[in-house]
Amino acid sequence: MTDETLDVAEHARAAVADFDARQCLSARDDLDLFGLRTMASALRPALPDGAVLTEDDLAVRLNVAPRHTWLLRRWLGLLTTHGWLEHEPRRGYSTLRERCAPVRADLDRVCADLGLPAQLARFFTAANRQALDLLQDRVLAQELLFPDGDLFTAEAAYRRNPINQYLNAAAGALITRAVDDLATDRHPVRILELGAGVGGTTADLLPALDGMPVEYHFTDVSPFFLDAAKTRFSRYPWLRFDLVDLNAELPPPGTFDIVLAANVLHNAQHCSIALERLRELLCPGGHLIIIESCREHYQLLTSMHFLMSPWPGGVHPGTGDLRAGTDRIFLTESQWRAELHIADLTPWLVLPGPDQPLATHGQRIFAARTPR
Ligand SMILES: C[S@@+](CC[C@H](N)C(=O)[O-])C[C@H]1O[C@@H](n2cnc3c(N)ncnc32)[C@H](O)[C@@H]1O
Repeated sequence: MTDETLDVAEHARAAVADFDARQCLSARDDLDLFGLRTMASALRPALPDGAVLTEDDLAVRLNVAPRHTWLLRRWLGLLTTHGWLEHEPRRGYSTLRERCAPVRADLDRVCADLGLPAQLARFFTAANRQALDLLQDRVLAQELLFPDGDLFTAEAAYRRNPINQYLNAAAGALITRAVDDLATDRHPVRILELGAGVGGTTADLLPALDGMPVEYHFTDVSPFFLDAAKTRFSRYPWLRFDLVDLNAELPPPGTFDIVLAANVLHNAQHCSIALERLRELLCPGGHLIIIESCREHYQLLTSMHFLMSPWPGGVHPGTGDLRAGTDRIFLTESQWRAELHIADLTPWLVLPGPDQPLATHGQRIFAARTPR
């Protein structure tokens, strides 16, 4: 590790110094098991003992909304991989059995051991209870995640937990250092945040940037989040609010010094194209900072991932890239490293490293620079 990497890593570690991460690994396993259990429970009424059914048969029996059939396919694949379901390629799926039970009694305990706020445990529990309704589009994930328009549960997912505190602290250290570095030749330093959403990362960055020579563009594809952010962050006059869809037209090349994409790039229809376009967006000596989940989370596949199903006429993320045909949303760490390298954005920093207990969450921050 370089001195710069060690410094950022130390800053990130200090942000979670009080968290006892020893329970993380087994709690993570339990969280996955609650996800698998939910998938099995949703399928069970359609797959009685002795029946052998294809994916299409199951989709009809369960009345799955067409936009969610990719999730059904993913569930069937995972249950088969974990031995909870048998699959004969020419006949179909049969013999559904729970093979392994979580150690913890409920999601409240799992989330507590992971340092996740109680709101998130309630959201996961509600989504699991209504998994079939979600599959059938009789309930929308948005209704559960943003009850009465409240953003608190989403903030619990992207900010109020140890792994995101760690990642946000790393992002803060990277961005303030980059501003110091760039401010010598340019004023103000232009920062673009893509998919800023409920501001889970933004809220931790703005206090540190206040007083620095910056112009910060808070952007999202959805006006809903921009409206909420305008009120919430009104005390920062150097903040701008713009609608930006990373899959559509972007601002002109060389417009920004720093681009931050926290938990949004997996929405790209084509990751390598998105990275190339982000590189073009940056001026020489610019900084790209990405936060992404790099492993599949089964509990997300029965909750948050319903948000990823496109409405009719929409395009599924990853349709044109290395995820095509896999129904996966998240790239792995090595896939991101490879994609960044191809886009001439080889990361000089990736955290947390394997020695960090929080690495078990699978979320990573990547930092890259364009040549000066
Ligand atoms: C996982 S969430 C947000 C994370 C965000 N950093 C936060 O703290 O809330 C993903 C965000 O990306 C936005 N998004 C989805 N597709 C997008 C796209 N094509 N372009 C830009 N933003 C997008 C969503 O509206 C959402 O706010």
